[in-house]
Amino acid sequence: MKNRLCEMLGIRYPIIQGGMAWSSDGTLAAAVSNAGGAGIIGTGGRTTEWVKEEITKAKSLTDKPFGINLMLMAPNVNEIADVVCEEKVAFITTGAGNPVPWIEKMHKAGVKVIPVVPNVKLAKRIAASGADAMVIEGMEGGGHIGTMTCMALLSNVLKDKYPIPVLAAGGIADGRAMAAALLMGADGVQMGSRFLLTTECPVHEKTKNMIVNATDTDCVVTGYSRNMGVRCLKNAFTQRYLEAEISGAPKEKLMEMGTGTNRMAMKEGDIENGSVMVGESLNVLNEILPCKDVIEKIVADAKATLEKASLIAL
Ligand SMILES: Cc1cc2nc3c(=O)[nH]c(=O)nc-3n(C[C@H](O)[C@H](O)[C@H](O)COP(=O)(O)O)c2cc1C
Repeated sequence: MKNRLCEMLGIRYPIIQGGMAWSSDGTLAAAVSNAGGAGIIGTGGRTTEWVKEEITKAKSLTDKPFGINLMLMAPNVNEIADVVCEEKVAFITTGAGNPVPWIEKMHKAGVKVIPVVPNVKLAKRIAASGADAMVIEGMEGGGHIGTMTCMALLSNVLKDKYPIPVLAAGGIADGRAMAAALLMGADGVQMGSRFLLTTECPVHEKTKNMIVNATDTDCVVTGYSRNMGVRCLKNAFTQRYLEAEISGAPKEKLMEMGTGTNRMAMKEGDIENGSVMVGESLNVLNEILPCKDVIEKIVADAKATLEKASLIAL
């Protein structure tokens, strides 16, 4: 499965584990990288010290490249960016803000930059900005989402050729979906939810089991009307939140209601009052496996699907 993304990052398979606040740490990132993909430590809501410790941990567990997800609006983003540069992490992905001003600083430190983009306009801007690759992320994914689906992004963005690798994300949770993204012209995939259900992921067992038992219609999006959509599983928290949102609660009130709920669900296992962030492809998210088994199955299924595709006659 060698292609320009694998060559650029020095990885075996074109699979990146999405950065996930309160869910992806150094242990998970290293396990994904050891399995031939590229893992990412999520830094949203974390202290600079925690980020440094997790980088050190990941380095002790793997000699393969791994990345950091930088939340550009985080109050400590400058300090975390300094740690990334000092530690010479292989690459960053970026969310929540304009990544362009960060590219030069990162490149000077030898760190590659992979912004996450939600539409064609930004994809074009990022491709011309000197970024090393980009992720087009559809609204089927878990956590904060945009407005376009992954299929629409694949159609609209990859209608044109790009000088940098383009990864697809959002609702891609198995080898068949990965094969579809590659057939549409993507160079690789970023998966978040699939890696929540791994033995190395630090997410609480209760939360993992809720995801294992969930079916397609169990997902809901909170905050969509206020341009701060988060995809998660229905529970007492989403009921309260959506009632407030539908009754016209102001943005500040909704932000207050959402604060801390990611940590409550993913770290503390409060699956009723926390935000159980996960993507929509819930019926294939049904077993907890080591990262190595997850990646090997995804690759085998993607290869089988691509072989089958060549036999389809129209
Ligand atoms: C629990 C969770 C937390 C997430 N946190 C972040 C984050 O902090 N920063 C970010 O850029 N993306 C975040 N994401 C998005 C993922 O990196 C990834 O793009 C997304 O999960 C892809 O869709 P999928 O869940 O269907 O695989 C998060 C996703 C989940 C499920």
